[in-house]
Amino acid sequence: MTIVVNDTRHTIDDVPADMPLLWVLRDRLKLTGTKFGCGKGLCGACTVHLEGEAVRSCLLPAVAVDGRRITTVEGLSPDGRHPLQLAWIAEDVPQCGYCQSGQLMQAAALLAHGGTPDDETIVATMSGNVCRCGTYGRIHRAIKRAASGDPTLGAVPAVAKET
Ligand code: FES
Ligand code: FES
Repeated sequence: MTIVVNDTRHTIDDVPADMPLLWVLRDRLKLTGTKFGCGKGLCGACTVHLEGEAVRSCLLPAVAVDGRRITTVEGLSPDGRHPLQLAWIAEDVPQCGYCQSGQLMQAAALLAHGGTPDDETIVATMSGNVCRCGTYGRIHRAIKRAASGDPTLGAVPAVAKET
């Protein structure tokens, strides 16, 4: 199979039909920023973007995304300065950090569609991303801060387009 991950095309051999995308990313491509939590689509730790939309990579068979464009947390920005990443730092969001790449990718897909989401939209969008450390309040504040156009954070990139 061939997939474009973080703007780099990869050809990957011997991918079992039932291997989730998560394990192709982590084990074959060594992109370990995407985490395994529940393996059942219930926690959001494994969230990546498929053509700009947030998906759970633990549930998605890798062969189902043959030829498609994937973005992981490593590709969210070239220098770690996506407005959400800067807002995460400014609001001191992470505690243990395990859930945070999934949280960032879920939030980034929301903001990439433009506009300023209201509180209800943020809560609804993030409701499937679990944080055992309970950082929800700080996550919410960071998303609002990034979406607000805080000049210290820069502009939110638009949704990645299909190649
Ligand atoms: S590991 Fe994929 S949703 Fe929990
Ligand atoms: S920061 Fe620890 S699980 Fe979210």
